[in-house]
Amino acid sequence: MNHLVIDTDPGVDDAHAILMALASPEAEVVALTTVAGNVNLDLATRNAHIIVGVAQKEVPIYRGCEDALVVPTARRAISHGTDGLGEIDFAGSIPAASTEHAALALIRLASEAPGELTLVALGPLTNVALATRLDPQLPQKYRRLIIMGGAVYAQGNSWERTSEFNFYCDPEAAAIVFSRWPQLTLIPWETALRHALTADQVEALLQIPSPRAEFFRQTIRNRMARNPSGQKTLTEPDPLAMAVALDPQIVTRAEHLHVEIELAGNFTRGQCVVDWSGLMQRPANTQIILEVDQKRFFNLMQQALR
Ligand code: RIB
Ligand code: CA
Repeated sequence: MNHLVIDTDPGVDDAHAILMALASPEAEVVALTTVAGNVNLDLATRNAHIIVGVAQKEVPIYRGCEDALVVPTARRAISHGTDGLGEIDFAGSIPAASTEHAALALIRLASEAPGELTLVALGPLTNVALATRLDPQLPQKYRRLIIMGGAVYAQGNSWERTSEFNFYCDPEAAAIVFSRWPQLTLIPWETALRHALTADQVEALLQIPSPRAEFFRQTIRNRMARNPSGQKTLTEPDPLAMAVALDPQIVTRAEHLHVEIELAGNFTRGQCVVDWSGLMQRPANTQIILEVDQKRFFNLMQQALR
């Protein structure tokens, strides 16, 4: 059984990733921890509750950091709608989040089950970095850390053009995590682009007759309507990272290299700096996922929505 803790800023693709985890018969979602990223912390936490409700599950949810560790995030995502879930129709009530801070929950959960939990980080790394500072032994307490983030070829998707959005939001947090965790798995933005769901795959998901698929339809309808030139493909970075967590054999190409995060660049703050040639002779700290089996990824998306 794969015991997962998911740190998240839902977020449309976060929602799909969380549904994927909750639908997996081989995984247990131990907790969700929320962080400001795509939307503010209140909305991220509200959305986490909505997603768990759509899946008809009960999962503890812990509120985390409401902004970056050092420099407040200048601008938030625009592609997730004002509610962070693509302007879904939701009129239900939201239970109160747990009072324990996400960073403290990340430490407690790992301390209670040392070596058993996989931490999947789908948003800015603020909570993970804070927890790592509070408990320097944290990396030794988690079985694995899997991160959606970074642009390993500097093809960014944020207002810092060489930086991926999660690392753009909190570069200092990313720098702390990459300097303190001896090993982590990274699913970068360019890999998500390479594995966008095809128009046929998206259409097949839209045809699934289930409440989860209806929720999926609602979360992507505005984004699909705004797609340039009417293309019907769908880039799903967080579900791709979750697929790697759920099915590690899905990976078909990866590189184990040294990675660190730029903090001072005039044009490159938050950039993921990869030592591709090994010139620095620093220990490889990151398994960079470059390709996966697309069919197995799509199968996990189908399972998430059935
Ligand atoms: O760059 C993609 C990442 O930024 C995803 O986690 C998406 O949810 C946004 O947070
Ligand atoms: Ca996210």
